[in-house]
Amino acid sequence: MNYSVQLGSLWPSIRISLLSEQKYGALFNNFSDIQQVTQELERLDAVDFIWESQKVVQNLDSTGGKQASEPAMLTGTLAVPAESQPESLPCLSTLISPNIKCYTFPKGDISLFLPARPDTLGILGYYLLDAASVLPVLALNVQPGDFVLDLCAAPGGKTLALLQTGCCRELAANDISISRTGRLNSVLCSYIPRNIRDIVRITSWDGRKWGDLEANTYDRVLVDVPCTNDRHSVMEEDNNMFKSMRKGERQMLPMLQLELLVAGIRAAKPGGEVVYSTCTLSQLQNEYVVERAVELLKIQYDIDVHVEDLSIFRRLFQDTFSFFPNCRLGELVLPHLTANFGPMYFCKLHRLG
Ligand SMILES: C[S@@+](CC[C@H](N)C(=O)[O-])C[C@H]1O[C@@H](n2cnc3c(N)ncnc32)[C@H](O)[C@@H]1O
Repeated sequence: MNYSVQLGSLWPSIRISLLSEQKYGALFNNFSDIQQVTQELERLDAVDFIWESQKVVQNLDSTGGKQASEPAMLTGTLAVPAESQPESLPCLSTLISPNIKCYTFPKGDISLFLPARPDTLGILGYYLLDAASVLPVLALNVQPGDFVLDLCAAPGGKTLALLQTGCCRELAANDISISRTGRLNSVLCSYIPRNIRDIVRITSWDGRKWGDLEANTYDRVLVDVPCTNDRHSVMEEDNNMFKSMRKGERQMLPMLQLELLVAGIRAAKPGGEVVYSTCTLSQLQNEYVVERAVELLKIQYDIDVHVEDLSIFRRLFQDTFSFFPNCRLGELVLPHLTANFGPMYFCKLHRLG
């Protein structure tokens, strides 16, 4: 009932997609036998969607776009759509975290990946995940030497993607759930060599306390919050957030999300970048949380935050994902029968002071 109001005529097809088999992406593990894994994935006719986006950039170039030296930015809390700016050619390396590869099957192709196999050193070659969940990590735009915080990290798909960049000087991976940080640890053991794992510090703290525990510390912070997890909610009875016994918890979610985002921004250094993400379509858990966090940080902590324009992501990755065209802040990947990824909402915030 809620989504038919929020999404109008788009909702019936999103609903059918949520009820249909989800599509996966294979996050390439740069720490495994690269040649063997590349051959294996290319034999399946899967393509690295991030590499493919280079072609979009080249096309823009050949249609007369100018080279932009900075990623599209905006000031204040309102996003300025890229469409309303002068045509400019983005330089991919200034926009997205480097070195991440994620293979997907083309739109309309519902082939499945086989489970990854260990190489001769026992390291797995790829990690299967919703390919849209790589987008928040790309948007974080990690740079060499960055001190990075993944505030709600388990079971670890995005932590793995952050490590693929090869840029983290240190990575703090936190999740309140001890059992889930256990899973995160075993994922890292299966994918990451010991010497690289040494840069990761795993903790099981309440992320809401991070603003007091380690304020003004990190270059990059990922805040991938708990949410109604819409795809899981329509398909699984187990642990379903819409069960009546979880009503109170569900109603408190936007408050928890707000507190986590505020803590994440306070943990960032002035000048640092934060990405907020969820896997729900709900505006109440997406844009409204971002808006409220920006207000609250100003009023309570005198911290100014700019919300960045990510509409370039829509152009770069339109061949792989279906994007909601009308997000006021951030971007939302919509489930679609020909590209059944998401939902995935992501919004980038730049801490100014
Ligand atoms: C969407 S999941 C994170 C998924 C993870 N980033 C990934 O890519 O695999 C949200 C996580 O937030 C954790 N969480 C819930 N409340 C939290 C809190 N107060 N502090 C830190 N983590 C919390 C949950 O245990 C859950 O693992």
